[in-house]
Amino acid sequence: MTMQASARSYSNIAFIKYWGNKDEGLRLPANGSISMNLNGIETVTSVNFGPALQKDTLTLNSNPAAPDQLQRVSRHLDAIRARAEVDHSAEIVSRNNFPAGAGIASSASAFSALTVAASAALKLDLEEQELSALSRLGSGSACRSIPEGYVEWIAGEDHESSYAISIAPPEHWDLVDLVAIVSREHKPIGSTTGHRLAWSSPLQQARVIDAPRRLDICRAAILARDFPVFAEIIEQDALMMHSVMLTSNPSLVYWAPPTLTMIKAVPQWRADGIPVSFTIDAGPNVHVITTSEYVPVVRQFLKDLDGISEILAAGVGGKAHLIQPAADGASL
Ligand code: DP6
Repeated sequence: MTMQASARSYSNIAFIKYWGNKDEGLRLPANGSISMNLNGIETVTSVNFGPALQKDTLTLNSNPAAPDQLQRVSRHLDAIRARAEVDHSAEIVSRNNFPAGAGIASSASAFSALTVAASAALKLDLEEQELSALSRLGSGSACRSIPEGYVEWIAGEDHESSYAISIAPPEHWDLVDLVAIVSREHKPIGSTTGHRLAWSSPLQQARVIDAPRRLDICRAAILARDFPVFAEIIEQDALMMHSVMLTSNPSLVYWAPPTLTMIKAVPQWRADGIPVSFTIDAGPNVHVITTSEYVPVVRQFLKDLDGISEILAAGVGGKAHLIQPAADGASL
């Protein structure tokens, strides 16, 4: 019996952010979040469990992974192995199609693809909700890459009740994320440490208490395809998260000068009648959100600014899914 499977999953961009956990071990977030999957910004992962394998191995983009990456992946596989009551080691081969170090978070697509592939390889027949909750244990944002399109992560109270659901399919609204790459430098402090530091900011409580309001406005704006309302709430949410980051101890300043240039330019373009908005994760890159019709215009505006090295474009992506790898493994 083969214990092998491969899966593809898309990264996602949060419109209402996850920043801070109420339970670190279980990755139960302090507040719910809303995102869209990013079509074409993806991870493909193959997992092969074998009784003869001595230990887990992880190949990332054709190279052996760093020890800390392998350890995080092994720990996640332990949670899946425990459910399947199997203790075989695994050979994991994973590939991202986006440029390494481009500041695109890979943990969302990585841990969702790993969860789908590993649970199928071990013949666990899991519902979408369970796959989402399980992915969350590996990386919080990964739970949002399991369902399709526009997604909401319900914060929940325990492992079973903290998972993401689709609130609208990809074809509901043709939003596009133009990722303006500012720097390829590795971020000094990753999200996992950042979530912990959030509570050292006196602003975190206020951000969390106000989250239901922002979630309601954002969800309703997506369902109604109301760009102006959507634009204002996602910018406010991103700036609230960055206010927490800036006022944490130590202070987390993820912005570079071109980040601020875009924070000022994008609302100005919107005031001039273009449906465009921004959001920013734990890094200097700016996710410039527009509709497909306005992509050429917004792309040109971005090209005219200084300090942007590259622009990636992604429409709304589907759900994480199993795939048939090429027989010779060539696709990986
Ligand atoms: C700023 O999901 O990367 O992108 O659970 O520690 O893996 P871990 O954190 P992660 O945090 C994402 C933070 C964010 C906001 C978001 O995606 O909601």
